[in-house]
Amino acid sequence: MNLNFIPFPTLTTERLILRRMNITDQNEIFFLRSNENILEFIDIPKAETVDDAIKFIEKINNNIEANESIMWAITLKENNTLVGTICFWNIDAENKKAEIGYMLHPQFQGKGIMQEAVEKVIDYGFATIQLSLVVADFHEKNLRSLKLLEKNGFIYETKSGDYLVYSLQKTNP
Ligand SMILES: CC(C)(COP(=O)(O)OP(=O)(O)OC[C@H]1O[C@@H](n2cnc3c(N)ncnc32)[C@H](O)[C@@H]1OP(=O)(O)O)[C@@H](O)C(=O)NCCC(=O)NCCS
Repeated sequence: MNLNFIPFPTLTTERLILRRMNITDQNEIFFLRSNENILEFIDIPKAETVDDAIKFIEKINNNIEANESIMWAITLKENNTLVGTICFWNIDAENKKAEIGYMLHPQFQGKGIMQEAVEKVIDYGFATIQLSLVVADFHEKNLRSLKLLEKNGFIYETKSGDYLVYSLQKTNP
């Protein structure tokens, strides 16, 4: 395993730059983490104020410094504005396993943006972090998330309450 997120691994795809999040992203993070559409199927504490968003950004950056987890800000190449986030968390170094999480501003959904981000981040997880398994856990009614995971080869693993667990194994070890 190669858990080393400093210097931060900025990733680039055809339309996107996945960069480190910083304090100037506070309004966009506040929007995402308080938006009903986003929160419908995800079990995170709702941000009540911009200050909650600032604290969240600080927590993420501390985790990055400690090489414990990583979150990228998803931005379009034409400007630097955060339109979503994607992360690896619950990283289990012993079992070379991590959980993937993501959210996208409703205006930017339905354009294949998360597909592009997921593909790149999973590549990074397998090739650079040297993960063997990526897991995703999501609400059974979250059909957009299910579709995205299936498109990327994730398969059903188990169910826990209303949440499904899907996983993707590295193919060429
Ligand atoms: C889950 C989530 C990220 C999926 O976003 P998304 O935009 O549907 O995902 P994708 O990037 O895969 O885009 C797929 C859609 O873009 C369309 N699309 C348009 N242009 C495309 C392109 N160039 N390439 C690929 N797909 C394209 C696809 O047809 C598809 O639309 P459809 O589902 O209506 O057929 C989003 O719904 C979200 O943020 N939800 C709230 C947070 C959340 O639930 N997170 C997951 C917790 S587990």
